Amino acid sequence: MSDPKKLYIKTYGCQMNVYDSERMAEAMGGEGYVETQDPAEADMILLNTCHIREKAAEKVYSELGRYKSLKAAKPDLKIGVAGCVAQAEGQEIMRRQPMVDLVVGPQSLHRLPELERRARGGHKALDTEFPEELKFDHLAERPRAARGPTAFLTVQEGCDKFCAFCVVPYTRGTEISRPADKVLAEARDLVERGVREITLLGQNVNAYHGAGPHGDWSLARLVWALDKVDGLDRIRFTTSHPGDMSDDLIEAHGECPKLMPYLHLPVQSGSDRILKRMNRGHDAESYLRLIERIRAARPDILISGDFIVGFPEETETDFADTMALIEAVRYGQCYSFKYSARPGTPAAERALVDATEASDRLTRLQALLTRQQHQIQNAMVGREVGVLFERTGRMPGQMVGKSDHLHAVHVTGGGISTGDLRRVRITESAPNSLGGVPIGG
Ligand code: 5AD
Ligand code: SF4
Repeated sequence: MSDPKKLYIKTYGCQMNVYDSERMAEAMGGEGYVETQDPAEADMILLNTCHIREKAAEKVYSELGRYKSLKAAKPDLKIGVAGCVAQAEGQEIMRRQPMVDLVVGPQSLHRLPELERRARGGHKALDTEFPEELKFDHLAERPRAARGPTAFLTVQEGCDKFCAFCVVPYTRGTEISRPADKVLAEARDLVERGVREITLLGQNVNAYHGAGPHGDWSLARLVWALDKVDGLDRIRFTTSHPGDMSDDLIEAHGECPKLMPYLHLPVQSGSDRILKRMNRGHDAESYLRLIERIRAARPDILISGDFIVGFPEETETDFADTMALIEAVRYGQCYSFKYSARPGTPAAERALVDATEASDRLTRLQALLTRQQHQIQNAMVGREVGVLFERTGRMPGQMVGKSDHLHAVHVTGGGISTGDLRRVRITESAPNSLGGVPIGG
């Protein structure tokens, strides 16, 4: 038997791309490929790309440049571009980088094996359609390999919100939700293979409305059904929009034992003027009231968010409103970005804020967010938390896991193995992680 062909996948961007890369590896597994971590020995290189900001998109072209010599040395090597840059710039990629053999958009992943065969036959292959059939139903049967203790599971994809800065509605398409029984079957399969924590993914995950027995299911209903899956210990979901944070979901945060006390709820700005121009569909006050209601249901919940600074026409007063909102919320964790104009989005037509001014605002905003993150981490010292251990650490005998609140926790000793869920007393707070000691056996 000949050696299996080797596939190298490099993943950029969000967790949904991580999930998609796993699905592509499985689909190519059905074609006789095994994964490698070394591009130099690959027969096929796939870049799973992100288009959200200009910097992310440009990385693709510099990465492709690096593979030129590999392709020259091994003409049989096939190079593919997948993900959101593929969707947005398909033809342009082929034009700028003629060594690219195939381009596949996020909604056509299931057609990857067929595209690979076309590419092997010496043809250029491009598929950036939004096909009628749901890709989820066509992806290869999973090989029943063991898995680590955590997994992502896409339940919803696409977005109908059309925030003025965002490419997602164009690259991932309109919102679709997977049927509840399909999601539950995939969750049970993951649990049988060793998974104890599942993060449900969607660009707008709390707008989930999948077909289920007796009509459409909300995300809360799905969470409650997952709560009953034996062997599954933890449930998370991301990313949510404030406009879709329904009462039943808030209630689940108070009552569902397996739903973790962490919520990623981006607000982007604290200025009503800018929120309106962003087409966010909510104002600062309604967001703050929502946070209050969530905290009333689950007082120890850790809130995380996303911010964009330097959105067109943002003034120092608008920025001060954002800082005030951050002060009021007290975030445990945040991602913040300088506005990046994206082709095809409404905001791309508008005048930019001075670049130095925008950088200065980002620095001030990040300083505040870091301070809040540390305050919340420091407040964990002395507390007892659940930790799911995911891997060995750098120090001898050290294990690293995630707390219920998604803090990285380092523990030494205690006979802990990967996949163990243990109670840990937090003893120290480092810049980006916590340290602790296991309690009991
Ligand atoms: N510029 C900067 N940041 C952006 N995001 C989305 N689009 C842009 C853009 N054009 C950020 C938002 C979003 C996160 C995933 O990326 O904060 O929540
Ligand atoms: Fe983009 Fe707004 Fe949709 Fe989030 S809600 S994916 S920021 S358009």
